[in-house]
Amino acid sequence: MRNEAELRATIAKMVEPGKGVLAADESIPTITKRFKALNIESTEETRRAYRTLLFTTRGAEEYLSGIILFEETLTQKADDGTPLPELLIRHGVMPGIKVDKGTVPLPAAPGDLITQGLDGLGERLLQYKAQGARFAKWREVYGVTDVNPTPLGVAANAEVLARYASICQDAGIVPIVEPEVLIDGDHTIERCYEVSDAVLHAVFDALHRHRVMLEGMVLKPSMVLPGKDRPPKASPQKVAEATLQILRRNVPAAVPSINFLSGGQSPDEASANLNAMNVMYPHAPWVLSFSYARALQDPAMRAWAGRKENVALAQAAFYRRLKMNSLARSGKWSEAMERAA
Ligand code: 13P
Repeated sequence: MRNEAELRATIAKMVEPGKGVLAADESIPTITKRFKALNIESTEETRRAYRTLLFTTRGAEEYLSGIILFEETLTQKADDGTPLPELLIRHGVMPGIKVDKGTVPLPAAPGDLITQGLDGLGERLLQYKAQGARFAKWREVYGVTDVNPTPLGVAANAEVLARYASICQDAGIVPIVEPEVLIDGDHTIERCYEVSDAVLHAVFDALHRHRVMLEGMVLKPSMVLPGKDRPPKASPQKVAEATLQILRRNVPAAVPSINFLSGGQSPDEASANLNAMNVMYPHAPWVLSFSYARALQDPAMRAWAGRKENVALAQAAFYRRLKMNSLARSGKWSEAMERAA
């Protein structure tokens, strides 16, 4: 029997005013790629040091309701020996956990992917919960071409996302449901709109069929954008209009919070676009907030560069991104503030 009160209590914390979620759940290959671009070695120790830097940033708890962790981080400790999830809990930040096991090609749907990790998920969730996790994340990925995602890809990915969400809720864990329409490619914003509309429609149909309690989940979508190889970039006004239109058409008002991924947008862009949505739709039925990885972390990772002596500088850069996105989440961000910062 699903414990609805438990899910509601977690959600209540996730939607606190001014707050969003940090995605710090890069898998080992992904963080290794990010580190390598900055000439930082990726070892268990450098990953621990980097994540400790983020989690011990003073004042971050003012802007963060939760942080999504990768499995490795759940068992790592801060310099003083405190387990990292416990450190977050002490600061009033909820630990979450990425539970999917990445993507493989989807048979019979050339060009489409499907995410793995459902087998044994229920047991894994109980273990993560004992380690402090209160919410989870699962990402399905949709590459955009003239023919992708295929109808089979859209249907199969939606089914898997809904299965995941339902298993989470049975374990008393709030699922973050992440269908990411990729920015890679030279498609138009109209094509991204069309794909995102089909994807969200299928996802909510599947969530309904699997009896997922909409009040006990968070949606983590991509914004509607032109492909990154199709300049010029769309204005925040245009991104906000297109994104809000598909959300209104597909996301029931029962969903408490929509926390966007940044998906390769620059940190400024991700703040400007989120801000535009909150300015345009101040009384939206859902919270419109953030669950960024790169747009929150990039300046900090760059400032750190793997060196102990840069920790304070990196924390200042991280704090600044948190503050800017907290303002954007309430429609109070401006370009002038960005420059002043
Ligand atoms: P980005 O904000 O870097 O897109 O990452 C968000 C995320 O959690 C992807 O799963």
